[in-house]
Amino acid sequence: MNISTALILDFGSQVTKLIARKIRELNIYSEIVPFNIKIQDILKKNPSCIIFSGSPASVHDRNAPKIDLKILESGIPVLGICYGAQIISKMLGGRIGKSEIREFGPSKLKKVAQSKILKNISSNEMSWMSHGDTIVKLPKSLKVLAKSEFGSISVFSSKDSRIIGTQFHPEVMHTSFGKQFFKNFLIDIAGCKPNWKPSKLVQSKVKEIKETIGKDIAISAISGGVDSCVSSVLVNKAIGKNLKSFIVDTGLMRYKEVEEILPSLKKLGLRPKVINASNLFYKRLNNVVNPEKKRKIIGKTFIELFEKEAKKSRAKFLVQGTLYPDVIESVNVSGPSAVIKSHHNVGGLPKKMNLKLVEPLRDLFKDEVRVFGNALKINKDLIGRHPFPGPGLAIRIIGAVTKERVQLLQTADKIYIDILKSKNLYNKIWQAFCVLIPIKTVGVMGDERTYENTIAIRAVNSVDGMTANWSRIPHDVLDLISSEIINNVKGINRVVYDITSKPPSTIELE
Ligand code: XMP
Repeated sequence: MNISTALILDFGSQVTKLIARKIRELNIYSEIVPFNIKIQDILKKNPSCIIFSGSPASVHDRNAPKIDLKILESGIPVLGICYGAQIISKMLGGRIGKSEIREFGPSKLKKVAQSKILKNISSNEMSWMSHGDTIVKLPKSLKVLAKSEFGSISVFSSKDSRIIGTQFHPEVMHTSFGKQFFKNFLIDIAGCKPNWKPSKLVQSKVKEIKETIGKDIAISAISGGVDSCVSSVLVNKAIGKNLKSFIVDTGLMRYKEVEEILPSLKKLGLRPKVINASNLFYKRLNNVVNPEKKRKIIGKTFIELFEKEAKKSRAKFLVQGTLYPDVIESVNVSGPSAVIKSHHNVGGLPKKMNLKLVEPLRDLFKDEVRVFGNALKINKDLIGRHPFPGPGLAIRIIGAVTKERVQLLQTADKIYIDILKSKNLYNKIWQAFCVLIPIKTVGVMGDERTYENTIAIRAVNSVDGMTANWSRIPHDVLDLISSEIINNVKGINRVVYDITSKPPSTIELE
């Protein structure tokens, strides 16, 4: 069966990944490539359409990202979003100027002509703008289809609807008709078939892994998280006993995590060896309080252990559960993008490593990995586990990590998670966990004054961890969590609830 591909050219916008997501939600495969990809390489991918993303740059900047006119002449339908629309207009002879009113935020759409791209979308529906430059004059070959509330050109197209530009961002959730807009473009204009599902990739992935690894040996570290589990099952399906899997017990995992996951892994045909490295991790983390330092130390220690295992089993490949959001770094069009956190599974790998990487999930988003896992018949309990960061509880203990603090946190976290499960809330929440805030405050228990630590409870709803809303756990459940933690975890006399979303906060506290 033919699979349609929507190719997204990334001009460096922070929200390019959301375009890919929105398209995949319509069951159409989408892929992000850098804006300066060569036309021959575009044609090799045989895309059904091409989408130009937004950009932090201005089309007037000397080093502004440019496109090859051949793309517009290729006959492939093109949609330009924000900067993408401006660059199309400029390349075809239009004029871009500074906006008199900088439009940032909501703006009602004002339709001025009937068109395929605005089918089933009415005037006054809400769009989301974020631009400083504006299209002052369109070239003759393009016509205005809609304006913004403030009168600027919002949507345009060529006469045959093959080239479309939009000043608003259809990919962000604030644009109420974003899904319909993409549907109109992808299905009606570009003729894409909505027949793609992540599970479609299973067979081709297994074949690809077989070809890549051949008769060599691969190692994989299973963490108990969904990604490493799904990627290991996939590689196991491809190369069987030539996959040597192991679990590194870092001492920073959830309460009795290794014991909990082993039986499910065995049922999947995986027999991971357990390497107890907790003392090594505790020793290296002794007195380290800086979150980035913690991540770097943990990442480095993991790699050392991986290399040791690889040597023992003469492996040539390392399996990693890297996901799409980790891979697609926004194209750097205006200086290096800010490093918010170094996620060790990508950032921490040494430049020169003796192992080649196998990353079977690198084109999937987190929620798609779960669909993929279902297709591989992985136990629902494993697939449904909340995401867990590689550096584990070390980044959920603010300040120094000690064995005692880890145990305290594990006990509180277990109580919290068990209550969520018993109240049928666990599967409705994307990620929930406790954080130890080792700041002492005064309390009173019985008739005694206490002076102990604080536990913060965090719960967020998200689709893929890129953005998240804090979950509204009912007050009576919060009350139960608080009293159960205080009554059962010695050393805690206060429980607080984190009510920040991402952005502005990140999901983890460190
Ligand atoms: P943040 O805290 O950046 O987290 O909003 C987004 C998602 O990523 C997980 N996370 C990590 N995963 N290594 C990982 O493998 C890491 O260093 C790391 N840091 C955060 C986090 O749990 C959340 O699901």
